[in-house]
Amino acid sequence: MDKVIVAQELSLAYSNSEIIINKASFSINSGEFVFITGASGSGKSTLLKSLFGALKPKQGSLVVGGVELHGASRSKLNLLRRHIGIVFQDYKLVKEWTIEKNIMLPLLINGYVNSVAQNQVDKLLKHVRLNHQIGKYPLELSGGEQQRVAMARALAHNPILILADEPTGNLDDYSSQLIWNLLEGANNQLKTTVIVVTHHIPKTLNVAYKHFHIEYGSINEIC
Ligand SMILES: Nc1ncnc2c1ncn2[C@@H]1O[C@H](COP(=O)(O)OP(=O)(O)OP(=O)(O)O)[C@@H](O)[C@H]1O
Ligand SMILES: [Mg+2]
Repeated sequence: MDKVIVAQELSLAYSNSEIIINKASFSINSGEFVFITGASGSGKSTLLKSLFGALKPKQGSLVVGGVELHGASRSKLNLLRRHIGIVFQDYKLVKEWTIEKNIMLPLLINGYVNSVAQNQVDKLLKHVRLNHQIGKYPLELSGGEQQRVAMARALAHNPILILADEPTGNLDDYSSQLIWNLLEGANNQLKTTVIVVTHHIPKTLNVAYKHFHIEYGSINEIC
């Protein structure tokens, strides 16, 4: 089976003094659904940042989509990122743009023709039950609705890998369920590899999953 991610003796740090992830080795196959758990401050977001190429490995090897991120050039990283969808805690919607434009513009930049991009926007906004809000601006939506738009945007270009950092944190059951449905659908139907950081693994999920737990700088595979 193809591996989307292979980490060998991977260490992550923001400075020289404090190592956040210490010599971790793990791999993730194409099409897997993966949960990452761990206490606050354990390094979950740090790990996702490194998988997206936003934090360079301090030591060891990290290969994502066939690209070695240790020492990768900016242009290589940019190319890789086109194939990754992200929903990060601090990666918000552009508030000056309608939700339609927030989802559509990245598609147009990625080379989609207008009609295809428009279809994709309409389809995804229906999935997250926001098609009636298409002309609104992010600040005219609730937090849960904004998060659903962020998830729609992350999936719009059919990425091979989606990285989601607590995508259902602070959401009610209804919004949470829509987000899980989207991730489950992408994984089932498009074989998208899904990596989700969460404090609560949903009990209602209809996919087999892998679970990594981060503790004291180690990444342990639970199941
Ligand atoms: N930009 C940064 N510069 C320096 N240190 C950072 C930075 N971001 C995070 N850290 C430190 O790295 C450690 C891990 O942080 P991280 O954000 O990965 O935790 P987390 O597991 O995602 O926690 P939470 O569940 O609270 O989101 C923390 O000790 C934090 O203080
Ligand atoms: Mg975090």
